Amino acid sequence: MTKILVTGGTGYIGSHTVVELHNAGYEVVILDNLSNSNIKILTQLHAITGKWFNFNEIDLQDQDAVQKFAEENGDITGIIHFAAYKAVGESVEQPLKYYKNNFYGLINLLTSFNRKIDFVFSSSCTVYGQPDSLPVTELAQVKKAESPYGNTKQIAEEILSETAAVTPELNVIALRYFNPVGAHETALIGELPNGVPANLVPFITQSAIGKRGPITVYGSDYETPDGSAIRDYIHVVDLAKAHVAAIKRLEEGKTDSNYEMFNIGTGKGSSVLEIISAFENTTGETLNYNVGPRRIGDIVQIYGDVKKSNEQLGWTAKLDINEMMRSAWEWEKYIKANPF
Ligand code: WQD
Repeated sequence: MTKILVTGGTGYIGSHTVVELHNAGYEVVILDNLSNSNIKILTQLHAITGKWFNFNEIDLQDQDAVQKFAEENGDITGIIHFAAYKAVGESVEQPLKYYKNNFYGLINLLTSFNRKIDFVFSSSCTVYGQPDSLPVTELAQVKKAESPYGNTKQIAEEILSETAAVTPELNVIALRYFNPVGAHETALIGELPNGVPANLVPFITQSAIGKRGPITVYGSDYETPDGSAIRDYIHVVDLAKAHVAAIKRLEEGKTDSNYEMFNIGTGKGSSVLEIISAFENTTGETLNYNVGPRRIGDIVQIYGDVKKSNEQLGWTAKLDINEMMRSAWEWEKYIKANPF
């Protein structure tokens, strides 16, 4: 059975990817420092899959620990690398924390697993900034990052492409996610934001359950049909399945080069106000919201051209906005009744 390492495997996207790898017949090893997740996720993963996953509490900044782990796990054939800090706002306040953690972690992984390895990297559409044309393709110009978080994604892609260029045994696929939302259909795993959620959908569900006050719509004067900003929201389970497709592509050696990148989105844009009404229509809950000023650093609109992923990864998003909202709400209700 092929053994895949998932770094950040107790996190939001990581835990959903562990489930889909398991369902696809892979043996999964989790490495996480629990800095932005909860050990109880292992129990939840057992409840979903019946499997107690091999868990290693390691900080990727600890080079000796990562080296030792790599030596003790010579049968790992692939790595899906999620473990990194990802809060846009926090990265602006603490850039060195982000550069140190996100780059030391990646570099320690690459230097420790310096043998034949398939490597899937968690990148982001944030590298595009505000695209010049939409839908945005993988060939679009990478724009100057609006935050240290976005910059760590851009530079990490460069580290990987430049290393792969001189390391034939390193095969990389970078997945550029759009906006991950929703939760597993069992409502046993989902997003666990630290503190006040910066992202729209977790703020919506926490507002709906009474944990937060009204939602602030950041701007209604954008050049969009309803004036609010547009994003390509993708269900986290569809996103998780894209990682399985990427690992399969690498295993089968179907890649055009040993560094490839793919947009992982639905190809459809939804505005903030559309998300709010989709949540209300799907759940029957009434949301309190008001319109405030634009958030600094936000782009107006983005949605992905996903033809390359559809055709070459053999992957297409299947779950719609209503399922994203339904599952996010079911998870919020679960976590209120079963706090970690
Ligand atoms: C979505 C839209 C906000 C909160 C970022 C990162 C991206 C990824 C996802 C990590 C925007 C609006 C939000 C609120 C609002 N990060 N909004 N009120 O900024 O598109 O993407 O998070 O994986 O890489 O860049 O996501 O959910 O914060 O915002 O009106 O309370 O919702 O202005 O238009 P974003 P978001």
